[in-house]
Amino acid sequence: MLSPQLLKPVKAVLGGELIQRFIHKDIHEVVQRMSVMDTFRFLIAIFVYTFLLYQLLKVLIKTVFKGVVKLFVHKDFHQVVRRMTAMDTFRFLIIHFVDKLGVWHRLPVLLGLLYLAARRHLHQRYNLFNVGKTPPGVRSNPEKLPYRTADGSYTDPFDDGAGAQGTLFGRNVYPVDQSKTLLKPDPMVVATKLLARTSTSYIDNKKQFNLIAAAWIQFMVHDWMDHMEDTQQIELTAPSKFNEGCPLKSFKFFKTKEVSTDVSEIKTGSINIRTPWWDGSVLYGSNEQMLKRVRTYTDGKLKIADDGLLPHDEDGIAISGDVRNSWAGVSTLQALFIKEHNAVCDALKKEYGDDMGDEELYRRARLVTSAVIAKIHTIDWTVELLKTDTLLAGMRGNWYGLLGKKFKDTFGHVGGSILGGLVGLKKPNNHGVPYSLTEEFTSVYRMHQLLPNSFHLRDVSVDPDENKCPPIIEKVAMSNMIGHKGEETSQIMGFTALLVSMGHQSSGALKLFNYPLWLRDLIAHDMDNKDRPDHVDLAALEVYRDRERKVARYNDFRRGLMLIPISKWEDLTDQPTEIQALRDVYGDDVEELDILVGLMAEKKIKGFAISETAFIIFLLMASRRLEADSFFTCYFNEEVYTKKGLEWVNTTESLKDVIKRHHPKIVEKWMNSSSAFSVWDAPPEKPNNVPLYLRIPH
Ligand code: HEM
Ligand SMILES: *[C@@H]1O[C@H](CO)[C@@H](O)[C@H](O)[C@H]1NC(C)=O
Ligand SMILES: *[C@@H]1O[C@H](CO)[C@@H](O)[C@H](O)[C@H]1NC(C)=O
Repeated sequence: MLSPQLLKPVKAVLGGELIQRFIHKDIHEVVQRMSVMDTFRFLIAIFVYTFLLYQLLKVLIKTVFKGVVKLFVHKDFHQVVRRMTAMDTFRFLIIHFVDKLGVWHRLPVLLGLLYLAARRHLHQRYNLFNVGKTPPGVRSNPEKLPYRTADGSYTDPFDDGAGAQGTLFGRNVYPVDQSKTLLKPDPMVVATKLLARTSTSYIDNKKQFNLIAAAWIQFMVHDWMDHMEDTQQIELTAPSKFNEGCPLKSFKFFKTKEVSTDVSEIKTGSINIRTPWWDGSVLYGSNEQMLKRVRTYTDGKLKIADDGLLPHDEDGIAISGDVRNSWAGVSTLQALFIKEHNAVCDALKKEYGDDMGDEELYRRARLVTSAVIAKIHTIDWTVELLKTDTLLAGMRGNWYGLLGKKFKDTFGHVGGSILGGLVGLKKPNNHGVPYSLTEEFTSVYRMHQLLPNSFHLRDVSVDPDENKCPPIIEKVAMSNMIGHKGEETSQIMGFTALLVSMGHQSSGALKLFNYPLWLRDLIAHDMDNKDRPDHVDLAALEVYRDRERKVARYNDFRRGLMLIPISKWEDLTDQPTEIQALRDVYGDDVEELDILVGLMAEKKIKGFAISETAFIIFLLMASRRLEADSFFTCYFNEEVYTKKGLEWVNTTESLKDVIKRHHPKIVEKWMNSSSAFSVWDAPPEKPNNVPLYLRIPH
């Protein structure tokens, strides 16, 4: 027995502090009169009672949610909702409700941002699938001062190998095996009847998006991903009664290499031969060997030719980080950013003197140049691609946070990823899945429709008109602008004429019947950037590639992303000719619709150059490219970038700034538009007096 003497302090505690705090005051008196044991019993009873009440409430909420889900939620989503926490179910119900009304892009900017934040959160939870073994995640960075390595390793400080050259593509949607339907419907038929441009069907992006913007995204794709090929060849042959419509009656190509993952969930995957990080590998290469080819080894600089274009080797192959399946437009951007890199080297050397040798200058300049590229993509290119106030706010938010540039430049990164932005976060965040790009990401970046039929060469030797537009002197077939021939052509045209001409030409619209014909009879490159003997029909090949790589077809792709699927062609487009052609190829089976075709056919949100379906993948992956990378988060500081380097990134806001730095005359004389990605004779944007967050899209 415990002596009453000993129990007294216990009672004092129980009866004093605890009772005062947790028990209703009307009962205090009763409790005061209780013995210690009774007080104890009483407290236990209260505790059990509260616990039961809480459990009951939980069941009740769940039941109500279940009822709501059953009643209001599209049946295809019941399964994913079952796996969600209560908070996520709540988020899902909101976005699903907004989706049913089809209005998110018309909501006032702040509400639109809330919708996107809820969506991004859900996709980070339910649309990141690791492919392959998950590494143990030990911290190990061998260098005192971290830098971007040649092959992308050590970019995630907790997982050395993540995002290195040769790692596997991840997934956003569970793979769908199509080994039995690889040819259903026939890829050549799909390409001819739905994708191919005819002599009259070319549609461009008007003033919104120019050829620089088209070259830019290819420049980025060549930074991020390319699938490793197998040695096994495949041949596609057009059905005999059909083959007049096909530039090639049959063509050969190499299968995508499929490797075993040794894990049970997703059994096979494919290999990325570029580093998926936003590390400028299009300039620096994705491994040590390429890096050696592009560096001068003096003052940290990269090689550039005397005419301001890319240098070439003895075989005429351009020297830059990645030149496979490229064209003059991409080479021009590579040349521009080599100038940028070299200018950063000069600035650092001037500031820090001989303390910085070649290796250090190269490393720091690479960090700065990669960040400038990522920043331009985030707050300039994407803003022009998705031209609405909500996306302007969203993209600036990704870089600067909702508090904005002025605040961040003055006080640094404050708050989490929403208020302070992703760049400069204290820690990288991969949301529990090692960083990679994904099969679905590759599929939505199939944008060959951006390319025109011919390149409109401008005369830069005469004065432009009052909109700063120079006259066209020649329409050069695109087949003369690609590969090795393209390099020769561009040396004749010169940097200024190339850039100005691209600036003044609109790019192709991402629509059906807009796939360039010259890409249906294309000389593709082998792994050594040499021309292959067998031409390919890129349109048909792309349809095949998505199927081969088990990328879900359009409707399952949408379901996987919690987007309401279509049930008839009219849900996709209101163009009768398109509906007719879809029916012609797929009958009434909307489930068979290929992802590439669906993305092109989908009716676009006003201001969006891409489909909403593709946009959802961007929303998830564009944030991830910044947030998972230590050099955009914990290492985005003066110690790693230098003060001068960070200032360089902080004060470069657009591609126009970069062009102005190296070619001020080009901007002054030929660019009227606000952004270098709009057609350059477009009038500059009028200032809008309504604060961004308070705007309501019309
Ligand atoms: C002259 C310009 C271009 C040429 C000659 C070209 C050629 C090619 C070729 C030959 C392939 C490989 C096809 C295969 O075997 O699977 C490819 C893949 C691809 N291209 Fe292009 N392309 C050009 C422009 C573009 C543009 C403007 C984009 C826009 C984003 C783009 C995005 C892609 C993507 C995402 C892939 C898939 C990469 C992968 O499989 O990992 N390309 N291109
Ligand atoms: C650059 O901006 C960051 C915030 O993104 C800030 O912390 C840093 O002090 C700025 N540095 C310079 C040199 O402007
Ligand atoms: C742009 O073009 C307009 C005519 O559309 C002209 O009035 C204006 O001066 C030009 N602006 C610039 C910055 O060149």
